[in-house]
Order: sequence, then C-alpha cells, then structure tokens
Amino acid sequence: MTGHLSIRDLTCRFGGLTALDHVSFDVKPGSVMGLIGPNGAGKSTLLNCLCRIYQPSEGSIHFDGADLLETMAHDLCRAGVGRTFQNLELFDEMTVRDNVLVGCDFRFGAGFWSDLIHGPKTRKAVRQAAELVDRELDALGLSHCADRIVSTLSFGEQKKVELARALVATPRLLLLDEPAAGANPSETEQLGRLIRHLRDDRGLTILLIEHDMSLVMKSCDEIVVLNHGQKISQGTPGEIGADPNVIEAYLGEDLEDA
Ligand SMILES: Nc1ncnc2c1ncn2[C@@H]1O[C@H](COP(=O)(O)OP(=O)(O)O)[C@@H](O)[C@H]1O
Ligand SMILES: [Mg+2]
Repeated sequence: MTGHLSIRDLTCRFGGLTALDHVSFDVKPGSVMGLIGPNGAGKSTLLNCLCRIYQPSEGSIHFDGADLLETMAHDLCRAGVGRTFQNLELFDEMTVRDNVLVGCDFRFGAGFWSDLIHGPKTRKAVRQAAELVDRELDALGLSHCADRIVSTLSFGEQKKVELARALVATPRLLLLDEPAAGANPSETEQLGRLIRHLRDDRGLTILLIEHDMSLVMKSCDEIVVLNHGQKISQGTPGEIGADPNVIEAYLGEDLEDA
C-alpha cells in the first residue's frame, strides 16, 4: 500500500498558545483529504509540521510507515512528499521551464547542477529531465508560457508552475496550501478537475488546505475540520456540510470578520 498518511495526537505549542491540540487522522492512499477551518485554526501549522518547518511538541506523523518526524526537510522529496506554498516560492527572475526543472534536482542526484555545467556524460540525464518538465508543463496547460519569466504570469498561473515543480519530483503525497487563492471561478473549476485527475489517474494522495468551499466540496473524499487547534469534525463533504459544530465555527468567523 503506498500513499498512506497517519497523524496521531499531533500537538504544536508556541509559548502559551496551543496551535494544534492532539490532532489525529488518516489519509487513505489515493484519496483527497480536505483540511478546513476558520482563520487561525491551525491548518498551516499542521502543514508546516508535516514539512518539518515546525517541530511538534507531541505526537507522530507516519507516511507509508516512515516516521516523517525523523526525516530531514530536505529529504521529504525522497520520502515521496511534495508541496506547494500558500504564498508563492518561485524564482522570480527565472523562466517557467527553469523553475519546474528545479523540482527534478533530487531525481538525478546531488551533483545534477554541477554535472550540468561540467560534463557531456550527464547529457542523457539532462535530456530526460527536460522531457519530464515539458510533459508536466503540457499536462498543466503551461506549454505556451514555458519560456516566459515566471513573475510575468498571473498569480493563478504561477500557482500551477509551483504544482508542476512539485509533480516532476513524482511525489506520492501532495500537500496543497490554498491552491485556489487568487484564482477566478473558472480557474478554480479547472483546478478541481486537475486535483481529481491527479487522484484518479496518477493515484496521488492529496491533503488540500482550502478556503474555497465549492472546490473542497467537489474534490474531497473526506474533510477534517479544525477550530482553535482541535479537530472538531471529520467526515464526507455531505456530513461536514450538515454538522452544526462546523456551521457554528464558521459563523464565529463571519462575525469576527464583520
Ligand atoms: N511561528 C509561530 N509563532 C507563534 N504563533 C504562531 C506561529 N505560527 C502560527 N502561530 C499561531 O498559531 C495559530 C494557528 O495559526 P495557523 O496554523 O497559521 O492557522 P490557519 O492556517 O488555520 O489560519 C494562530 O493563533 C497563529 O497566530
Ligand atoms: Mg494558513
């Protein structure tokens, strides 16, 4: 079985604040799990624990049996974990193609970049990487802008470039932090189709943090709801939509925003 994520009693404290309080859930292989909750609920903190940016105070995270808390951040790719960022993390001055090529790095060993400069012996690896990048750009509908400087693209397109960069590393688990932020309704619709394609046709396990409820409801097999660092609900989109605890948590947010 590949692609099983298991989170147990995950707790993360910042001084006196408990950002995550004994959160447990599993994501089944080849399924999409939505992670939702009002602002400050702890969603990004959970993702940052998974990506080894934050060190949890308690609990465990296992992916396909491997203890992710024993995995260094730079080894996550090798462990089969890929991610995109809530705020973009691209190389602004580089082309779309080169930004995606960066994602290939680990597949060709640590010497990829130096070999690229130094040797004809790596020509084959370079060609393979270039082919992989072009295939992924094509799959995401980015071929037409492959040679453009990435910062000249719209925010929605740049998010797709990030996704392409994560995908060329062939992850089994994909972590998406608010991929629809800044996207218009038709881009969001397209993104939903893409997420379902990655699950159905490539068998990826996906953890999706997202504010856009239409995307969450249409694309997730299951949803975990966080509020004040605690898991307040878990279930199918239909179950979550009808859960009074969830509705109350979101009403609170609306009142605070008003
Ligand atoms: N590095 C940090 N230092 C201190 N507090 C933090 C840090 N990161 C997050 N928090 C706090 O943890 C809580 C959860 O934040 P976050 O995970 O960003 O929520 P969400 O992504 O659900 O909006 C918030 O109260 C936030 O202020
Ligand atoms: Mg967040």
